[in-house]
Amino acid sequence: MSTKTIAVAIDGPAGAGKSTIARRLAKNLNYIYVDTGALYRTVALSVMSSGVDPDNVAAVKAHIDTINVDITYRGDEQRVLLNGNDVSELIRTPEVSMMASKTSAIPEVRAFLLGLQRKLADEHNVVMDGRDIATVVLPEARVKIFLTASPEIRAKRRYDELIQKGTDVKFEDVLSDLIQRDEQDMNRAVAPLKPSEQSVIVDTSDLDLEGAVKAMRTVIDNILSGEN
Ligand code: DC
Repeated sequence: MSTKTIAVAIDGPAGAGKSTIARRLAKNLNYIYVDTGALYRTVALSVMSSGVDPDNVAAVKAHIDTINVDITYRGDEQRVLLNGNDVSELIRTPEVSMMASKTSAIPEVRAFLLGLQRKLADEHNVVMDGRDIATVVLPEARVKIFLTASPEIRAKRRYDELIQKGTDVKFEDVLSDLIQRDEQDMNRAVAPLKPSEQSVIVDTSDLDLEGAVKAMRTVIDNILSGEN
């Protein structure tokens, strides 16, 4: 990572509010926002739509050699491209979520996406959110925050989001999917979800969006002002 650019790494489980909060912070700070989950989702969508068996690691590895995943920006909104096609909406289904949790455990999938994430942080000031940003992708990030909340609160937020988009889901299914994804993300051998030793832990269970953004901004300002 270039020493000229500043990175804010935000990791945490699904539904902790990472993307909404990170997007807001990036706008406030005038940095670009990088949602790395969208990259894993794009790979998952590609695996799903080409009929590759996700349990056949060799087949997944062979498949990713044939695809191109990229990020572009429409204004300050991140869009993800699969072989040049904008798939930003198609990756937001519960099926793709579950597939992404599965295929992201494959080391070759992680290696495939690493260069793009580091390149973005090398070229821009970033707020980057994911699971392993502080531990693996940007270990030199100036600010490292681990954002979390109770599973029930996270599931409720995810449920409300899906209902608002018109997706027909049951709360119990959203909660059990989320607990299963937490399990998979925290227990995989490569780059498991966990705070880095330097991460500041922020729990958003009792905070609304404004409160969470404010708490995070305070953490960021304190760290950046101490170093500049
Ligand atoms: O943040 P999200 O729900 O869009 O992420 C989808 C899946 O991608 C998640 O279950 C785990 C995986 N992921 C990952 O392994 N590493 C990241 N940096 C981001 C996401």
